Amino acid sequence: MRLLVTGGAGFIGANFVHATVRDYPEDTVTVLDAMTYAGCRESLAVVDDDIRLVEGDVNDAELVARLVAESDAVVHFAAETHVDNSLADPQSSLRANVLGTFTILEAVRRHGVRLHHVSTDEVYGDLELDDPRRFTESTPYNPSSPYSATKAGSDLLVRAWVRSYGVQATISNCSNNYGPYQHVEKFIPRQITNVLTGRRPKLYGKGANVRDWIHVEDHNDAVRSILAKGQPGRTYLIGAEGERSNLSVLRTLLELMGRDPDDFDHVVDRAGHDLRYAIDPSALSAELGWKPKHIDFADGLRATIDWYRDNESWWRPLKDTVEARYEKRGQ
Ligand code: NAD
Ligand code: DAU
Repeated sequence: MRLLVTGGAGFIGANFVHATVRDYPEDTVTVLDAMTYAGCRESLAVVDDDIRLVEGDVNDAELVARLVAESDAVVHFAAETHVDNSLADPQSSLRANVLGTFTILEAVRRHGVRLHHVSTDEVYGDLELDDPRRFTESTPYNPSSPYSATKAGSDLLVRAWVRSYGVQATISNCSNNYGPYQHVEKFIPRQITNVLTGRRPKLYGKGANVRDWIHVEDHNDAVRSILAKGQPGRTYLIGAEGERSNLSVLRTLLELMGRDPDDFDHVVDRAGHDLRYAIDPSALSAELGWKPKHIDFADGLRATIDWYRDNESWWRPLKDTVEARYEKRGQ
């Protein structure tokens, strides 16, 4: 397959490109990435000779149309992805997530190219801690933040283009990813690199909020299964039964790093902070036979901590700027 991977210099996209080069050497990969603050050439250094990297915006209709015309399938990761940034600057999320997806859709429509749209469980809003339900593909959309509202908007555009124009597209909504190459603005890498730089970890509010953690390799494995075997028009929920409160993640992380599990600061909570996300992944397992491989969270977290320890040159240049931004917000 000739694959066009948008946002391939970001966290999940770069891991997807690495896995593709390793496991599907017959594929050709073109990455389209605007190299925003979240995109990093270094993340693709190990596959530099195996891929084509095009620096450009998914809103550049002419460029997108040209690259789509040369492809058999598009895997669309590109987005503004950080909830806190979307609260401070909602317009960037709207532009990248809604208009960017619209531009991709118009190009795949024109050229009859298969699309997989990568989305998030945050489109479903949040659950109470004791709610026995989990998100399924029939859960109504109820986004809370500018980020999740714009991702919801992009999903709805994909559904409409499938129905109205017969575009061959699938959508996946995945839970919180962790693993190597994740930007230090996000929860787990922020806390690991806080410890590594002599800062105290920062927990929003009381830390009771629950996220449903999945290793990035498992997410990408599921995306690959959907690309190969998913039914156009369908939505697939990806999760690994990994519900944990932020407090418990932080305490585990501190223990794995040889620190006192209470050695952290409580900081100002996020506005509109979603309480709990939980994915029911049974449909994906039943229909496509996908199963996560990283089922021991502590093992996955240990390996992630080791990766950040061993790859300081990758994250160090970003760290002080990110922390200065958080400090301004009291976080
Ligand atoms: P990321 O922020 O690490 O990377 C996003 C990438 O997209 C960056 O390389 C950035 O430069 C690029 N990009 C942003 N705007 C662009 C534009 N206008 N044109 C071209 N490229 C642009 O994000 P991530 O965590 O890797 O997330 C990738 C996708 O997966 C997103 O669509 C996100 O909504 C979705 N997702 C993320 C998670 C998670 O836990 N991180 C979970 C579920 C779904
Ligand atoms: O659920 C999938 C989503 O997961 C993706 O769609 C998003 O792109 C991705 O950023 C992530 O969103 P979250 O808001 O859940 O992730 P974040 O890493 O920002 O925060 C995880 C939890 O940790 C959340 O409850 C907020 C909290 N938090 C975060 C930071 C950065 C803290 O307590 N302290 C922190 O310093």
